Amino acid sequence: MSIIIAFIMATTPITQDYALEQDAKDPLAEARSEYVVTKHLESGEPTTYFSDMSLGLAQIASKESVRRYFDEVEYGHRSRFNGDRAWVKHPQKLHDKLAKIVGARADEVIIAGTTQTNANLLLNAFYKPTPERNIILLSAPTFSGNSSIANEHVQMHGYSETESVLTLQPKEGKELVSTNDILEALEERGSRISVVFLDGVNYVTGQALDIKRITQKAHEKGCKVIFDLAQAVGNIPLNLHEWNVDAANWCHYKFLSGPNGGTGGLFVHQRHGEDPDLLRPAGWKAEGPGSTRGHFVPKAGAAGFQLSSSSTLDLYALEPSLELFDKVGMDAVVEKSRGLTTFFLALLQTIDTEKITIVTPEDPSQRGCMISLKVTENRQEIVDRLYNEYHIDCDTRDPHYIRFALTPLHTSYNDVYNLAKALKEVF
Ligand SMILES: Cc1ncc(COP(=O)(O)O)c(C=O)c1O
Repeated sequence: MSIIIAFIMATTPITQDYALEQDAKDPLAEARSEYVVTKHLESGEPTTYFSDMSLGLAQIASKESVRRYFDEVEYGHRSRFNGDRAWVKHPQKLHDKLAKIVGARADEVIIAGTTQTNANLLLNAFYKPTPERNIILLSAPTFSGNSSIANEHVQMHGYSETESVLTLQPKEGKELVSTNDILEALEERGSRISVVFLDGVNYVTGQALDIKRITQKAHEKGCKVIFDLAQAVGNIPLNLHEWNVDAANWCHYKFLSGPNGGTGGLFVHQRHGEDPDLLRPAGWKAEGPGSTRGHFVPKAGAAGFQLSSSSTLDLYALEPSLELFDKVGMDAVVEKSRGLTTFFLALLQTIDTEKITIVTPEDPSQRGCMISLKVTENRQEIVDRLYNEYHIDCDTRDPHYIRFALTPLHTSYNDVYNLAKALKEVF
């Protein structure tokens, strides 16, 4: 047993009474009523939702917000300029709230594009390979799309993926590539690396990287840094501006409960946003002062990456969630996330089995609210049993992961207790 787990076991009672006590004094308890209750696909019975890392639980207010869109468009295009929601024309109001969640200035973020589209836009802007420096650094397990995007970008510049895409693998006997492994790789090979392109929180292991230290080291070595924050936004504390991250991309449909596949987000640090030489693809919404027909001068800031009109429906669907996060604040979300995950890790120690390995780091600063187990046998059967017999909704990803998001705004300590109890029975 590691020192951290020994400490957790010594300080966290693993009883239902403890869970109920924590729930009774939980300052975020009321937020749960803002979310829809998920239903079992066949019986329609309520389920307990632990799958926000796949699709974030929707907010009840989003339904009404979206419905109102169809009332408003009865006034046609004029609805965009009139009424209390004419702000969608200038979604600054949402950018302000989003900026607080990612730790940025409002002009460093936009709600536009999608996670993967934005990854392409950002590599377009920041990957400027030379014969001496042409590597894109990734870390395994890599989101498949990010590997493909890195491969395509090196090939577009005439380099080969075998030589110019470096995907770090866990060291012998380890499940994860640690922040220290990444720092080591940067120390050794940094002078050949053009762009470091990593997940802030890994999509299958739940590991959170130390974005600040990685960015600092990468900059010392002359590399640019792009983070995919699809699993990090609304999940871990972020301070992108202060940490000097060059750029980041994400979606809103996980921990921020936006609509599935909806508009994503993009961050470009102020120092680049004001750099006229940064390559940005053209689009009419990105046209800044000095643009003429056929001559594109991008707007300053992240706005220079907003090519097209915003999707009003997406903004309406997302607004209640950003308001809730704004009201409660990321500090409270993170504090409860650490409480829930610590409790779960303690409960998992009571499962007497060789069949599971906890993959997510025990150190709370290296995880968000997702805990991932490596399960080598009957993975799908276990997830199906949890769903059908216990009405617990979690998911599984190849090659061997079962993932649970203990999302602080709608998960109770008692939910976590019941989850562990069910796991004990199915394993
Ligand atoms: C790390 C990561 N990147 C990107 C995406 C999705 O990209 P997109 O929103 O463009 O479909 C996901 C979705 O699960 C993800 O986990």
